Amino acid sequence: MKKDIETREDVEVLVNSFYSKVQQDDLIGPIFNDVAKVDWAYHLPKMYDFFETIILGHKGFKGNPMETHFKLNREFPLKPKHFDQWKSLFFATIDEHFEGLNASEAKQKAASIADLMFYKINNQNAGINVLKHPRR
Ligand code: HEM
Repeated sequence: MKKDIETREDVEVLVNSFYSKVQQDDLIGPIFNDVAKVDWAYHLPKMYDFFETIILGHKGFKGNPMETHFKLNREFPLKPKHFDQWKSLFFATIDEHFEGLNASEAKQKAASIADLMFYKINNQNAGINVLKHPRR
């Protein structure tokens, strides 16, 4: 029986394993490696904080993920297939290492954030369009 995600160390195992899959992935790996040229020594500790906040409820993450991905989307348009692959690698990583309530909630929360992120990326200009085309 696998354990649940319960400590900072568990979150680090999850994040290291997930981004190792991401870096090797043919579809989304190049977005991180070639488009954003991610500095992993800087990115990984930030992601430990982020997922520790999401999964364990410990405050620690400071950042603006939506803004980061809006900017990324301007350089490289993020499509449903990219988000689907992100989710599928994340779910596979969780299932490989963990099981339990936190593990299953982590999948739900990450999927909700991914879906919200995709929605916001594609509706950023909705307000502007309303102003451009006012109802008569
Ligand atoms: C197609 C899907 C995605 C791609 C290609 C992607 C790519 C990236 C890249 C390139 C960065 C910037 C890294 C850097 O320069 O340091 C980043 C940051 C980040 N990503 Fe994603 N991401 C995706 C989906 C997600 C999802 C679904 C989540 C959350 C569940 C997430 C959470 C974050 C966070 C928290 C940061 C750090 C933001 C900050 O610095 O404030 N990403 N992502």
